[in-house]
Amino acid sequence: MSKGKGTKGGKLSEAQIAVHWKEEEYIHPSPQFIAQANMTDADVHERFGLDNFPGCFKEYADLLTWDSYWHTMLDTSDAPCWKWFVGGRINASYNCVDRHLAKYKNKAAIHFVPEPENEAPQAITYQELYVRVNEFALMLRDLAGLKAGDRVTLHMPMVPELPVTMLACARLGIIHSEVFGGFSGQACADRIHDSGSRVLITMDGYYRSGKFIDHKANADIAVETAKKLGQKVDKVLIWQRYPGETRSQAKMVKGRDHIVNDELAAFAGKRVDPVPLAAEDPLFLMYTSGTTGKPKGCQHSIGGYLAYAAGTSKFFQDIHPEDVYWCMADIGWITGHSYIVYGPLALAASSVMFEGVPTYPDAGRAWRIAERLDVNIFHTAPTTIRMLRKAGPDEPAKYDYHFKHMTTVGEPIEPEVWRWYYEVVGKGEAIIVDTWWQTETGGFLCSTMPATQPMKPGSTGPAVPGIHPVIYDEDGKEIPAGSGTAGNICIRNPWPGAFQTIWGDRERYVETYYAKYCKDPKSKDWRDWPYLTGDGAMQSEDGYYRILGRIDDIINVAGHRLGTKELESAALTIEAVAEAAVVPVVDELKGRVPDVYVSLKPDFDGAKVGDQVVKVIETTIGKIARPKHVHIVPDMPKTRSGKIMRRVLAAISNTLDIGDVMTLANPDVVEEVRVLVQGKEKVAVKKGPADIARFGDDG
Ligand code: PRX
Repeated sequence: MSKGKGTKGGKLSEAQIAVHWKEEEYIHPSPQFIAQANMTDADVHERFGLDNFPGCFKEYADLLTWDSYWHTMLDTSDAPCWKWFVGGRINASYNCVDRHLAKYKNKAAIHFVPEPENEAPQAITYQELYVRVNEFALMLRDLAGLKAGDRVTLHMPMVPELPVTMLACARLGIIHSEVFGGFSGQACADRIHDSGSRVLITMDGYYRSGKFIDHKANADIAVETAKKLGQKVDKVLIWQRYPGETRSQAKMVKGRDHIVNDELAAFAGKRVDPVPLAAEDPLFLMYTSGTTGKPKGCQHSIGGYLAYAAGTSKFFQDIHPEDVYWCMADIGWITGHSYIVYGPLALAASSVMFEGVPTYPDAGRAWRIAERLDVNIFHTAPTTIRMLRKAGPDEPAKYDYHFKHMTTVGEPIEPEVWRWYYEVVGKGEAIIVDTWWQTETGGFLCSTMPATQPMKPGSTGPAVPGIHPVIYDEDGKEIPAGSGTAGNICIRNPWPGAFQTIWGDRERYVETYYAKYCKDPKSKDWRDWPYLTGDGAMQSEDGYYRILGRIDDIINVAGHRLGTKELESAALTIEAVAEAAVVPVVDELKGRVPDVYVSLKPDFDGAKVGDQVVKVIETTIGKIARPKHVHIVPDMPKTRSGKIMRRVLAAISNTLDIGDVMTLANPDVVEEVRVLVQGKEKVAVKKGPADIARFGDDG
């Protein structure tokens, strides 16, 4: 088994990041998995080599049905705004719905699982989806007056009306911008304003953790706030969670608010043809989940994005029409767009949507759903895996389900957590893909090919076909491939799934993603424009990448740049530890030293944990990484998407201004943690150095 060299003991320049990861073992896919896999051709990576770029992507384009076939694969004349499949005309709604009717009209497109367990799951067939998409598309056209190129903001929860709305927009070329349902009215207003939407689509309410949330009230705040920002919303379309009854207490505004379920009667049984649109027309905007700064509206194309979502769903999610596929993400994030809606539906999958949280009403809920629907492909994030492990480490064994395939996405997964996922959730039967990518990239950048490349816990794997990463140091020097030295990971080449620009702000697009390593700002040659991901990474000898997290999450201790993730990973090897987060604290001698926050699994005693964490960090990483404090906290402050807010913890550790935490999933925890660290008395906040004030900020 190959061992990466790492940089242990080696001499590092200032521009490099120290790596102390231990190389993990390989785990191979089972013969049963290989026998049924969509992609078993090991030559695929060669076919997608740089020598065959960009022509290799015809293989992805040909998964789709085109109204007119494209003539130019890649047009670079407006670098770095790349255009794919130029000359092609296509419709995403047709590709995800209409074209499946001949063979699959009677098959479930969506399995909707309501949160209340006494409400049975609903199977929506492709025929039914077709009917609903047509009727709602007509309503968008005739009642809301929307047409191709207009933007419309959606602020919807995890209900089937959300994909219906997205596909109805796509049918007419209306650009949808879905804002995560858990975001506040204010956050929604910023996105309405930025995208210039005059129509908002929402729902009266939905269930979350046993509570019925009055969601319409957020729409009223959003419209008011957007108006103050300068964007008038003249129509609000409100779906009812229970058709026929409105469960919101908020007042209806005459002339502005329309109950969708009432208005639909006028369109019953009517059909509207999908509009053939240019491949490079925008399909949707997805605002990045930045915690500060103006959100960036990532603009995704129709042809390139859909081809990439479909191709990666086929090869890496291994979706066949007969599978039951459950991605537990929220459609309000890019994962839900690419891997609940567009990718799976383009492949005629049966895609599960769950309204609620997987640990409510108890830690067995997710596994009961898997058993009942006979799910065989499962897709979630490390934060959820850790939460499930914390809440019910032995629950999966109690249910009779069998996964063939599982995904982890969204942040680096600690090998310890990976093993629980593999052994307990996957019951040792399912292969795992660790997919590394971003809102901006539309689909996967790195992952093992499930049937042909072994898994390695904690490593995302090699680049996927057609993606060619390069790691640069801070000074722009290429770090040799496979050297085990960490740096800034970039992608050398464009690919069809990449976003086209930041909505309305090309300058920021170029500045944020290309300026740092651009070889010639006037060049029209893609080779001069490496894409900056903003992540730190290293590549082992075997070609597998290990993602260390955002470059902004690096701590510089006495000139050693340490990735917070590996310290957290070390802390997680202690049995009692459920979650760990590491942040820098100012230290007069060393510049910065790590502060470690841990939360414990239920029924574990924290008495020895502090010492254990210090010891394990010293032994796996070295004395250099010795934490200043280990804080044992009841819970971590988290974003609504489940990411730990290291920025908030860094502010607490350094007595800086914590800022606005109201958009967090659990704002109350912030004060609890502050008291634990700083004491009851409020301490005067200081102004911190830029790296600490900015720490963990992916905005
Ligand atoms: O830091 C990387 C991390 O999540 C960032 C992208 O976040 P977002 O745009 O919200 O998209 C999340 C879903 C793709 C990346 O820059 N990240 C994502 N997947 C992984 C990851 N880090 C390590 N391993 C992954 N598999």
